[in-house]
Amino acid sequence: MVSRILKVDPFDLVVFGGTGDLAYRKLFPALFRRFLDGQFSEPTRLIGVSRQPLDSAAYRRTIAEALQKFSTEAGRADEVKAFLDMIDYVPLDVGQDAGWDLLAERLSGDPSRVRAFYLATAADRFGPIAKQLAAHALVTPNSRIIVEKPIGHDAASAARINDAIGAVFSERQIFRIDHYLGKETVQNLMALRFANALFEPLWNSAHIDHVELTVAESIGVESRGTYYENSGALRDMVQNHLLQLLCLVAMEPPASLEADAVRGEKLKVLESLAPIDASNAAQATVRGQYRAGASEGGAVPSYAQDVGNPDTATETFVALKVAVANWRWAGTPFYLRTGKRLPQRVSEVIVAFRKIPHSIFSAESGRISKTRLVIRLQPDEGIKLWLMLKEPGAGGMRLRYVPLDMNFAEAFQIYAPEAYERLLMDVIRGNATLFMRRDEVEAAWRWIDPIREAWSHMSDGPRPYFAGTWGPAAAIALVERDGRSWNEDVV
Ligand code: BG6
Repeated sequence: MVSRILKVDPFDLVVFGGTGDLAYRKLFPALFRRFLDGQFSEPTRLIGVSRQPLDSAAYRRTIAEALQKFSTEAGRADEVKAFLDMIDYVPLDVGQDAGWDLLAERLSGDPSRVRAFYLATAADRFGPIAKQLAAHALVTPNSRIIVEKPIGHDAASAARINDAIGAVFSERQIFRIDHYLGKETVQNLMALRFANALFEPLWNSAHIDHVELTVAESIGVESRGTYYENSGALRDMVQNHLLQLLCLVAMEPPASLEADAVRGEKLKVLESLAPIDASNAAQATVRGQYRAGASEGGAVPSYAQDVGNPDTATETFVALKVAVANWRWAGTPFYLRTGKRLPQRVSEVIVAFRKIPHSIFSAESGRISKTRLVIRLQPDEGIKLWLMLKEPGAGGMRLRYVPLDMNFAEAFQIYAPEAYERLLMDVIRGNATLFMRRDEVEAAWRWIDPIREAWSHMSDGPRPYFAGTWGPAAAIALVERDGRSWNEDVV
């Protein structure tokens, strides 16, 4: 099967933080892939910006090395060369005035071209960069700015950052990335819910017992210890990725796929989340921190060793019981969990339907499990609908719990683009549906802040768990107290 490629208009993309990990690991490999698929129109220009004193030729060599490491297509020498030819470099320190004129010169030409500024930098640079762009008259009506999470570390700092960017760019020009929204299966949540008649009539607390969102990673904090120490799993994963997933599961059908229609519905979900604060944090939250253990096929150190801080109280695991307090969801808990150094990398949304009201089958037929819809985001993207069916055989009526199983790679037999491929092209097209609006980001922080505040007053810190296990025992108890269990049996 061949996917349809819609070419985008020629554009200029300026990557601040052009020699950083994100640029090398994700952005340039994603751009290369779009280039290979013929999505770019001539003349498109990609300009890396950073403090390093490189010239364009030296910068291109670093990109070539990055493609070798992070792109499966790096063997295509002619195409790599053509791609590198589009790339330029401007050395500048965003805090200084020097260098901006060179950037302006590189960007000169037709002022109506799409111009995108990607800020792959720390969030405290967002405001200063926006200001410099305005001061050097680089912001055209067709300009966009792309910023990465974390947008601040609480509601107040997020508002300050949004104010600073908003002083230069209008909201429709600002693209706040949550790369989970670019994942194919995350978008499939919308297709599944709103392009099928089957689920939506059942998509409420009358029929759904609970929802589980798991984003598990087997890796530790790797080289990001300094960032992670100030962040922790709640800010790093829950404030953005998990809450965005929750919104897509819980939102009302938007009037259309238009950006503000979707974002307006997601905002309503965020505003409906029942607060977790000092009054209920002990019951509704579990924090964990990994100890040394076995993961990814070998022995691994503890988080404290990873970050070189024996006294660290940063959480590397969070489990939450969340209530969406509105008519659709009252009585259906959402259980969220995420963590590092868990047994495997797996992200899933599990929708567990209610028990049947009455069984006509005898005890010998076997236990009747709840119907579950498992949406696997990664790896092995796909959907499983777990149903009770009759076991084949001439004997009595034996029931078996089996999945209707659809693996996307097998079903579609096409390459599933990386999240950044789609998101970057959406920015160029000006389609903001998969990006977070200011009010969403701030509403998410307003819900997160009281949890952190409550934790800061608790006498005990994160509970230990061994690397390579599913988090502290308390996380299991969080769900079992309600007579339920996490979905490990069907992972
Ligand atoms: C990032 C977090 O946003 O998402 C990382 O900062 C995490 O800590 C990563 O590892 C997970 O993304 P993915 O796409 O690998 O699931």
